Amino acid sequence: MPSPILLVNGPNLNMLGSREPEIYGQATLADIEADCVAHAQTLGLALECWQSNVEGEIVTRIQGAGKHYQGLLINAGAYTHTSIAIMDALLTLKIPVIEVHLSNPARREEFRHISYVAKAATGIVAGFGAQSYRLALEAMAALLRSR
Ligand code: DQA
Repeated sequence: MPSPILLVNGPNLNMLGSREPEIYGQATLADIEADCVAHAQTLGLALECWQSNVEGEIVTRIQGAGKHYQGLLINAGAYTHTSIAIMDALLTLKIPVIEVHLSNPARREEFRHISYVAKAATGIVAGFGAQSYRLALEAMAALLRSR
């Protein structure tokens, strides 16, 4: 059995469903995670999901990810735009990283236009609401197949 994929969600994503639904939609994080786990199975992949509001915890989780997972999907929330520490942790990984966002940060406030995560990611899926996660999973499956 190949090693699983890890989905990391950062700060405030545990509030999905009630958090600015006009931007982020109605689905809760639990809804999204359940959908992704099921979708991963149809792609022949196992998926583990994990969320934290704490930057250092996210850094530590990323540091250990190379040993246990074959790919990493990450929506770092607002840390996307601020965290050199998360970028540095991602840069140590030899497994592929895909950045995910529900919204399209490039269409939003200027402070969301920079992504430190992007500097360590193979690619980005953004702007498709909860569907972004499914699409990122499909991109990861294609990437792993092509290796
Ligand atoms: C987000 C976009 C970020 O700018 C924001 O801080 C979030 C959510 C998204 O998924 O659209 O927390 O990462």
